Amino acid sequence: MKKIPPVDLPEGLRLDTLAVRQGLPPSQWGENSEALYLSSSFVQPDATTAAARFANEEEAFIYSRFTNPTVTMFERRLAALEGTQAAIGTSSGMGAILLLIMGLLKSGDHVICSQSVFGTTISLFGREFAKFGVQTSFVSQTDPAQWRAAVRDNTKLLFAESPTNPLTEVCDIRALSAIAKEAGAWLAVDNCFCTPALQRPIEFGADLIVHSGTKYLDGQGRVIAGALCASEALINEKFVPVMRTAGMSLSPFNAWVVLKGLETLSIRMQAQSERALALAQWLEQQPQVERVYYPGLRSHPQHELAMTQQGGIGGAVLSFVVAAESSGGAALSRQRAFHVIDQTKVCSITANLGDTKTTITHPASTSHGRLTEEQRLAAGITQGTIRVAVGLDDVRDIQDDLLRGLSTLTR
Ligand SMILES: Cc1ncc(COP(=O)(O)O)c(C=O)c1O
Repeated sequence: MKKIPPVDLPEGLRLDTLAVRQGLPPSQWGENSEALYLSSSFVQPDATTAAARFANEEEAFIYSRFTNPTVTMFERRLAALEGTQAAIGTSSGMGAILLLIMGLLKSGDHVICSQSVFGTTISLFGREFAKFGVQTSFVSQTDPAQWRAAVRDNTKLLFAESPTNPLTEVCDIRALSAIAKEAGAWLAVDNCFCTPALQRPIEFGADLIVHSGTKYLDGQGRVIAGALCASEALINEKFVPVMRTAGMSLSPFNAWVVLKGLETLSIRMQAQSERALALAQWLEQQPQVERVYYPGLRSHPQHELAMTQQGGIGGAVLSFVVAAESSGGAALSRQRAFHVIDQTKVCSITANLGDTKTTITHPASTSHGRLTEEQRLAAGITQGTIRVAVGLDDVRDIQDDLLRGLSTLTR
């Protein structure tokens, strides 16, 4: 992190200012925008210096699998926003969770993970890392007693996501942090849905934060990216060596896109969250909708907690369940959900979220499609559930778009 001196900013700057200025090194040519260093390697002055740098005796840019000036700018800016000492960019959000596991755990270690996290995260812990002897217990996102009861002597990591994808369940980060500390374990939080513009898990006691930069950090659906934020000691001791070896590195181009995305993060999160709240309130009024999941609604089971942890803002993702036919089973619920999705002409039918374009998806057959039926139901995802990630579209156009399908459901 010391390789390029940061621009000399005064102490105590606020989030919006940090989002546009932090991490910018002294300019080379007077440029006011962050430079994109598309270089796979960096030239060394002589063989002796090269040897010293490769042996970590001297800091310098060497090779972009290790690090790169544009990636460093992104890491510094994100760390400043999350309030952590450091961050490390990764090739994707899953790459960040992979780095987390590889850096902290070894065979024989135990993890406690919310059963409601992103489906691929469940597969990574429960299927892929079970092969390497890392055991994971999945527990209720919202019941700290279950987390406490799951602690074993070999528990090293607690992992949560808040709010969750897609049902927006909110965990009590402070309570989980207390359990982790008692157990001598780390607490990692996936802050993808809120971003530091709404929620800073470090302030509630989390040790590590993971991000899918693919979502709101980019914010315009352009690149796949990720990051892991933590203390300087954890980043340098646990994660930099794994990154150098395993190579889940963030490309400089993607880092540049996400770095520029951070500049508008705060205003996007606020504007998209306002639209999401309006859509959630409207959906609650629709007779064809059985249930709406959105932390900004008073009907949400963790509404008060969400408002405390998320600065009074619900975020921009909501899910709703299409009312079932009285005699209908799962197949009919799925058919009705598909009908609503297929009638949309504005919403983009895609499993991505965090875009300025509103996206719509059927989690049970897309993002959570590779889970077993048992895992899916444990996470509360039924065949009638639809997720909407609200963008910057006029919310009235999104209402009209959903009404097209809702109003033509056969009753
Ligand atoms: C909450 C959450 N975490 C992590 C990921 C994985 O991110 P990526 O697709 O960038 O690997 C996703 C992707 O949808 C997600 O929703």
